[in-house]
Amino acid sequence: MSDIRIYPDPQVLYRAAADYFLSLAAACISENGLFSVVLSGGSTPRAVHQLLAEPKFGGKLNWNRIYIFWGDERCVPPEHQHSNYRMARETLLDHVPVTEENIYRIHGELPPVRAAELYEADLRSFFTERAGYGEISTPPVFDLVFLGMGEDGHTASLFPGSPDPTEIQRWVVPVEHHQPPAPLVDRVTLTPLLINAASHVVFLITGSTKAQMVARVIDGIDQPDVLPARAIQPSSGELIWMLDVDAARELN
Ligand code: 6PG
Repeated sequence: MSDIRIYPDPQVLYRAAADYFLSLAAACISENGLFSVVLSGGSTPRAVHQLLAEPKFGGKLNWNRIYIFWGDERCVPPEHQHSNYRMARETLLDHVPVTEENIYRIHGELPPVRAAELYEADLRSFFTERAGYGEISTPPVFDLVFLGMGEDGHTASLFPGSPDPTEIQRWVVPVEHHQPPAPLVDRVTLTPLLINAASHVVFLITGSTKAQMVARVIDGIDQPDVLPARAIQPSSGELIWMLDVDAARELN
């Protein structure tokens, strides 16, 4: 069952998302000694990151217990304007005392297939070494996955038609991406298999241009290969839709 939370405007949504991050991180660190969070790309998360970078938010967190991952990355160098890693660095990570070893970047400068293989290997070593997993047979559990959604129903870099949303083996896959939405660069993305294992998955969506797609994804019947955001159905974790009024206006 989805938890749909509607906010009067984007600023209120951003603050709610930052508060959610703060309280979940504190709870996870207190209970398990660490907090693993998957950041989303695109533009929506920027304002949430900037709030978390403020002392009244980020100053309350034990950043050396926080482990940072990405849901997807564009296949560009880390300093490139389209890099999701660069966006997170500029809006958050360069402004908080996060431990560099706790940042697990997707190596977008590599060919997509190699970058995906390397990232999956990094995830495996994190979850076996840091998060106390033994031999990992099932997908490991991130504490929090932030996601956005495009007007075409894509999320992370899971686009209509590719890659296969029903992937049952891999946690990370390469994505050839040569048609809109921009940027027209290949990608690396977590698969629904891994995202759906998470304890908490939170969509952050604002704006009237996404209202029709939000309604189709939440209320509709399209298949996940048509609308990949519908592939996000956490197996036992919490799914929260944080929407502003404009993005929620077509919901039943
Ligand atoms: C990316 C994101 C992508 C994004 C959506 C929404 O790499 O672009 O992971 O899935 O979340 O496209 O982007 P906006 O927040 O910019 O609308």
